[in-house]
Amino acid sequence: MDHQYKKARELDNKDPLAGFRQRFHIPENTIYMDGNSLGLLSTDAEHSLHRVMNEWKTLGIKGWTDSKRPWFHFAEGIGEMASGLVGAAPGELILSGSTTVNIHALISTFYRPDGKRNCILADELNFPSDIYALKGQIKQKELDPQEALLLAKSTDGHTLDEDRIVSMMTPDVALVWLPSVLYASGQLLDMEYLTRKAHARGIPIGFDCSHSAGAIPHSLSQWGVDFATFCSYKYMNGGPGSPAFLYLNRRHFQTEPLMAGWFGYQKDKQFDMSLHFEPTPSAGGWQIGTPNILSAAALEGSLQLILEAGIERIRDKSLGLTAYLMELIEEELAGLPHGFSVVTPTEPRHRGGHIALTHPTEAFRINQAMKARGIIPDFRTPGIIRIAPVAMYNSFMDIWETVSAIREIMNNREYLACDRERGEVS
Ligand SMILES: Cc1ncc(COP(=O)(O)O)c(C=O)c1O
Repeated sequence: MDHQYKKARELDNKDPLAGFRQRFHIPENTIYMDGNSLGLLSTDAEHSLHRVMNEWKTLGIKGWTDSKRPWFHFAEGIGEMASGLVGAAPGELILSGSTTVNIHALISTFYRPDGKRNCILADELNFPSDIYALKGQIKQKELDPQEALLLAKSTDGHTLDEDRIVSMMTPDVALVWLPSVLYASGQLLDMEYLTRKAHARGIPIGFDCSHSAGAIPHSLSQWGVDFATFCSYKYMNGGPGSPAFLYLNRRHFQTEPLMAGWFGYQKDKQFDMSLHFEPTPSAGGWQIGTPNILSAAALEGSLQLILEAGIERIRDKSLGLTAYLMELIEEELAGLPHGFSVVTPTEPRHRGGHIALTHPTEAFRINQAMKARGIIPDFRTPGIIRIAPVAMYNSFMDIWETVSAIREIMNNREYLACDRERGEVS
């Protein structure tokens, strides 16, 4: 691994984003590889959070109008800031709710079974919360999820074939809901292609972009995606439980959101307190209740930092990091004697920001042994260790250290000393 140690150093020296690492709080004695689950706190995010807390302290209710970024327009402002990251046109992006609540809001309005088109098309590798929400929405329409939820199957248990999904866009499909990047394997789906194919069949399509937002450039508006949602606590580093984003293509601005609430009202008239709902004709109309200002506050600083780095450079570095990780895995861990394999597609256009490493029998305990050494990946059933080197704060040397540690864990059989019991959060 000596030549690879030198290579990691060289890659770090050439990295144009290397300086951003200094602006993050990296937990002590830790190599953090879990930014696809919870991103880290930056000093910029810490400052914006402190500023908002201070505004609450000094302004009280006046913070809604008199704070630096008035809270009354905070969600719209943060939506505007993040627009370039996902290719949203003006008014198409709002900070609101949580991913799951936004799925409910979007599906409850756009899923209109009419007897002929009764089905929602999703996939069997989708995130469980998405599937729970889709099933709930189908039941709300008094239909049976067993019949009305079509799940595209995976042939290898890890990845999906876009053409197989397209072949299921049949005349009984009312709506398509898919992930941008699969949460377990890290496969990136071709959103533009899927959107084009769905529209050619007259079917609206939406995406859960939780695993791509902040890591990969998107052109949601240009591709014509109907709607989308994504969380802000992974690659966007907004903090635990920071609010999600809701994307609505402008062609739907006149569609009335059915999960209505007073923060979706036209802003200049919201305090008229009319009982007749007049939604803002934009993604803003899909807000429901009062925005979670404190939970959103860190996101302002964090987004500033991401914008400074630039999403194209972030993607370039991320691809470099994951390519280097796969190269080391191939050299040190794949095949015998260690028996690891990578189930993430290797082609750049098919992979997101993390690498999914599998081990036939001991993935869970190896993941535990890594954590015991201060290397933080995460584990997802059935046997996946997700390793997410994040462009904003991880280095190529982090990757070298990670793979060296896994090799030592295997050589010393350190995982045998770890518990098989899974904790509440894995
Ligand atoms: C792909 C995906 N969708 C949805 C969710 C759930 O998001 P929330 O808890 O914000 O509703 C997650 C959470 O990690 C996720 O990874």
